[in-house]
Amino acid sequence: MKLFPEDFTWGTATASYQIEGGWLEGGKGFSIWDAFTHLPGKIHNGDTGDITCDHYHRFREDVALMAEQGLKAYRFSIAWSRIYPQGSGEVNPEGIRFYSDLIDELLAHGITPWVTLYHWDLPLALELEIDGWRNPLIADIFAEYARTCFASFGDRVKHWITLNEPWVSSIFGHGNGIMAPGRRSNDEPYLAAHQLLRAHAKAVEVYRKEFQDSQQGRIGITNNCDWREPLTDSGADQAAAQRALEFFLGWFADPVYLGDYPEVMRERLGDRLPRFSDEDKALLHGSSDFFGLNHYTTLLASQSNPDNPPESDPYGNGGISEDQDVTLIADPAWEKTTMGWGVVPWGCRKLLHWIDRRYGSPEIVITENGCTLDDIVVDGKVEDRKRIDFHREYLAACHQAISEGIRLKGYFVWSFMDNFEWAGGFSKRFGLNHVDYATGKRTPKASAGWYSAVVKRNGVS
Ligand code: GAL
Repeated sequence: MKLFPEDFTWGTATASYQIEGGWLEGGKGFSIWDAFTHLPGKIHNGDTGDITCDHYHRFREDVALMAEQGLKAYRFSIAWSRIYPQGSGEVNPEGIRFYSDLIDELLAHGITPWVTLYHWDLPLALELEIDGWRNPLIADIFAEYARTCFASFGDRVKHWITLNEPWVSSIFGHGNGIMAPGRRSNDEPYLAAHQLLRAHAKAVEVYRKEFQDSQQGRIGITNNCDWREPLTDSGADQAAAQRALEFFLGWFADPVYLGDYPEVMRERLGDRLPRFSDEDKALLHGSSDFFGLNHYTTLLASQSNPDNPPESDPYGNGGISEDQDVTLIADPAWEKTTMGWGVVPWGCRKLLHWIDRRYGSPEIVITENGCTLDDIVVDGKVEDRKRIDFHREYLAACHQAISEGIRLKGYFVWSFMDNFEWAGGFSKRFGLNHVDYATGKRTPKASAGWYSAVVKRNGVS
């Protein structure tokens, strides 16, 4: 039995647009995802999040299921457009009430809420009226929204995450356009990323100045990163792997932990990479109480050359290919999930070490890790043995990293239940609990029972 530290946080995660539904209810405004999913051809099978898991109406049932499964922590996100239907201005009391009730329900069942303020569903009005994340004004608007959340929920919420994966908002939202707001550009990812980082810093400033002393909570940012393993031992491939990590995770974590973008990005991008003012730098530096990490897979990195052009598959790419000049491939020998992502637990351990070294041993929390399978219900059961193997192996890698001195403090399974998987619609199932979208019925998979036991024993065998 591999036991984890006593104070280790075990949880599951979801996000508002992926599970709530109720898109026209409770005084909610439209988000960029409401608009994007209704454009023909953007989402697999034309799926939308209009209803999805209907968590908006079923949240009490969902919390009861979490409690039954012995889950101790639950990470969810707030839909900004439920709180501010227009993004700013008038607060919607029904939106406040919904999240307040959810938080109370969790606490009544002994489940600790971890709240993400922004998991990609920007109020549509902000996109239409001020160009969303491309406008510097957004940072203060986000901070005001954050202030309202801290003031309304901070008496009960002690774990805050400002942004989920700003890399995705930047690259998929503004680079290749496969996610909302669907922009395609080589420069906008850097502009959007810059404002996302400024917004994060301003929200943290609000929390620290106005709330942290009295509320005694912690706040951080969650970034995503896959591991990049050099394809060969050559110096060029090792440098390519390092560069790929800096263009992926360093882009967002360096400003927060080291005070500016990675040097390799500043050199390669020149004026295409915005500069932080001294004030921005001061606000950003040290603006995370823990290192939130979403981690799913690994790719092999090598130096691009004309015979070895940069990877063009957006899902396989850690940045804008031409800019980082790295070719990324998966090892054909690796087992793959139905996302096509390699199952590579050792990559997780190596990434944890990379973070530890580069950022001075921060406390790390894995805020997402999970896998898709073609789960089907047979006689009321879902036998997802491969998901159990996946989590067991990734947790074993985490356990090893902890024993090597990495300060890993928590692990959240993506996801509590199957949900709307962005451009993949409902075709991809990540949940510990199966959702029948026609009826809304939740069916615990074998992995849910397995994870309950892990949480209960505080370890994996
Ligand atoms: C993350 C994201 C989640 C979920 C997951 C699986 O990037 O934060 O919302 O979709 O990936 O793809």
